[in-house]
Amino acid sequence: MLYANLGVNELGHLTVAGRDTVRLAKIYGTVLMLLDEMVIRNRCRTYRRAMEKAFPKGSMPLFASKALSFKRIYEIMQEESMGVDVVSCGELFTAYKAGFPMDKVYFHGNSKTDEDIRFAMDCGLGYFVCDNKEELLEIERVASARGIQQKVLLRLTPGIDPHTNEKISTGKVDSKFGAAIETGQAEELTLTAMGLSHVELVGFHCHIGSQIFEHTPFCDGAEMMLRFYAHMQKTHGCKATVLNLGGGMGVPYTEAQAPVDYEGNILRVGELLKVLCKELDVECPIILMEPGRSIVADAGVTLYRVNSTKSIPGFKNYVAVDGGMTDNPRYTLYGAEYTVLPASRMEEKRDFVCTVAGRCCESGDILQENVSLPKMERGDILAVLTTGAYNYSMASNYNRIPRPMVLMLGEQDDYVAIQRESFEDLIRNDV
Ligand code: LLP
Repeated sequence: MLYANLGVNELGHLTVAGRDTVRLAKIYGTVLMLLDEMVIRNRCRTYRRAMEKAFPKGSMPLFASKALSFKRIYEIMQEESMGVDVVSCGELFTAYKAGFPMDKVYFHGNSKTDEDIRFAMDCGLGYFVCDNKEELLEIERVASARGIQQKVLLRLTPGIDPHTNEKISTGKVDSKFGAAIETGQAEELTLTAMGLSHVELVGFHCHIGSQIFEHTPFCDGAEMMLRFYAHMQKTHGCKATVLNLGGGMGVPYTEAQAPVDYEGNILRVGELLKVLCKELDVECPIILMEPGRSIVADAGVTLYRVNSTKSIPGFKNYVAVDGGMTDNPRYTLYGAEYTVLPASRMEEKRDFVCTVAGRCCESGDILQENVSLPKMERGDILAVLTTGAYNYSMASNYNRIPRPMVLMLGEQDDYVAIQRESFEDLIRNDV
């Protein structure tokens, strides 16, 4: 099967981390998102160890919590000695309430408000990853009023095409994010930052895109960033010591995609930086990386209950489930591929090729097409794999559908990490 934590038991049911998914669906109801805690922890460890090996002391991975944000995940990240990247005050607040150390939090975003900046400083935020001049000047103004020095990294666009979906590609020159190196705007922003007395410029950041399988875009991005870093040091006496290379390493969603060698990729970037540092005659900067998807995606499995099936003779077949674009909008948005398994009929012949449709009142609410399943019946359980990243975090209440429960499969016990939303939750803010 696609991942090592999946299996089939004597009842012909799909198991995740040794647990019978059909049983879990019965106990907790559907839609149910399962998260295998050990997969998450092990991936954190892979990143941490590889980065310790490849880069100078102080280098570490930050979990990009836009992929999955709730209190417990920040506790796990703290236990695994990770930093975190947040992209809104909502994520920041969640981390804060979970007791995550604020000096290991990096606040992203291309359009921060004055309130965002003040709120983050109230929380004692470690680092802003500053996107533009207006933001930089506002940080200076607030920091100065408070009599503090605020640590800042600058978001740059290195001009790399990562060969991924346009909507999740972020490092090209025409990106909405950051200041482009190629146009001289990155240098301008750096000089502005260096001239401010309450901003401490600690480093530079880039993120080239997401779901990237090759290592070359990362190496190219790292090289561009290091050359810029060295140039700022040599020509302007810039004292920055950090390069944050962003996230983006891919995860296989289907058998057709090859697994990514995370450690290998990191070591490759490390080797390249060593060579380049020698050539440029600079000390190797502290390296940060921001994996999101590759920390949590394959830890997630979503369970649905089948409500109906239909065959339209000469056209196509449908299986309709009790969730859909409200808990996973990624097929609707990106045409994202997923592996769908008949959790309650794993041993049966899969000769019913169908579209798995959601319950929302629109035709585009599809989870996947061309799925081969056995003939399913009302009450059967379907599993969609690799739903740990950008599913719950992108879930909505469209059609006033409550968001699912998130059940953590711990090393020993299962526990609820996010309660299922209730109808009362849905009307909480209605007046
Ligand atoms: N750092 C920054 C600044 C980012 O913008 C992102 C993702 C990451 C790190 C983490 O990237 P990852 O390791 O997860 O690839 N909703 C889309 C993905 C959008 C990614 C946005 N930025 C999806 O569902 O595919």
